[in-house]
Amino acid sequence: MRIIGIMSGTSHDAIDVAAAEFTHTGAELRLKPLGDLAVEYDPDLRAAVVAALPPAKTTIGDVCELDARLGRAFGAAAARGLAELCDGRADLVVSHGQTVFHWVADGRAHGTLQLGQPAWIAAATGLAVLSDLRSADIAAGGQGAPLVPVLDAALLAPGQAALNIGGIANLTAIAADGTVTAYDIGPGNALVDAAARRHFGLAYDEGGALAARGTVDEALLDRLLAEPYYRLPAPKSTGKELFHPGYLDALDWHGEAHDLLATLTELSAATIAEALAGQGAAVVFASGGGVHNPLLRSRILVRGDRRFELRETGELGVPVDAKEAYAFALLGWLTAHGLPGALPEVTGASRAAVLGSLTPGTTPLRLPEPLEGWGGRVVVG
Ligand SMILES: Nc1ncnc2c1ncn2[C@@H]1O[C@H](COP(=O)(O)OP(=O)(O)O)[C@@H](O)[C@H]1O
Ligand SMILES: [Mg+2]
Repeated sequence: MRIIGIMSGTSHDAIDVAAAEFTHTGAELRLKPLGDLAVEYDPDLRAAVVAALPPAKTTIGDVCELDARLGRAFGAAAARGLAELCDGRADLVVSHGQTVFHWVADGRAHGTLQLGQPAWIAAATGLAVLSDLRSADIAAGGQGAPLVPVLDAALLAPGQAALNIGGIANLTAIAADGTVTAYDIGPGNALVDAAARRHFGLAYDEGGALAARGTVDEALLDRLLAEPYYRLPAPKSTGKELFHPGYLDALDWHGEAHDLLATLTELSAATIAEALAGQGAAVVFASGGGVHNPLLRSRILVRGDRRFELRETGELGVPVDAKEAYAFALLGWLTAHGLPGALPEVTGASRAAVLGSLTPGTTPLRLPEPLEGWGGRVVVG
């Protein structure tokens, strides 16, 4: 099966598109990457997404409009993926959508909303579309997140971990006995981005250059580290409902802007390093936009007393900027075969749910024969 995965994370910086060809023989699932693209968001659409995010108030009319506009944007991105990565031939599009709300209360997820109406993607490509992948896990009592660990667990060996530094940083760790632990650590780039935008009018701190000119304010860092989220037990998930630009206002801190960036970068490094060290992983494969920030990377290693090695998922054959899009392609392959994609041990669900809602394309919906299992391992290449 040829599957196109489309992902836009909490940074809403770009629409990531990855295409893969899956071949299942016996106990082996082979994922052949066909390539990936990052399609820039139209600035007006991005601004409309940002304006609708909590704690801002919005209207049902605006939500409807955003759903349609995002659907058209994802449709255009998927059509580019189909033409440029797949020679016009694919079987399924998997669209994560743009998360606008993840409803968590009392440590439980009760609902989640990703916008990007799949009918537009089906119309733009003619292909069937799998969307809304998180809700089935929530309906099974889970957090609906994280969903990428199914790919991490299929690639990593015991003693290894995967770290994704997107708007939110998350990890997947495989213990010596094979137990999988995965959860959202905290603000990967979210707060640094918010401060870069507010004080410098920039989308992010390129290479960590602004933070590098500042000094960490230890008192502010201590206050930031007191955030209760970091001490919640896993499974746990978070998002911009918590780490939004207003989070910085609430600090009521009026120092120098470079120092704020330095302190927020150190906060991300400290929380990430503590999480990784806590899992006892010796080798960590990193992905996500934060990988392109050398200051953040070096601070993670220093904060972790160099107890782990920080490598990149590219070494596993999965490009750092497209790992999540490939993971969603894998989730599509699993659903198409009637197989669960969520790992209950990481989402906290009572059972392993088959994920997503299917929208037919322009030809009759045809799914492969259901499989009983798939072995849980992926060979890339
Ligand atoms: N060259 C870079 N220097 C510093 N940070 C970067 C760079 N490139 C990307 N980033 C960071 O990565 C973020 C995007 O990462 P991404 O993995 O796409 O996150 P998400 O999944 O939340 O969209 C940007 O907002 C920025 O903070
Ligand atoms: Mg992104």
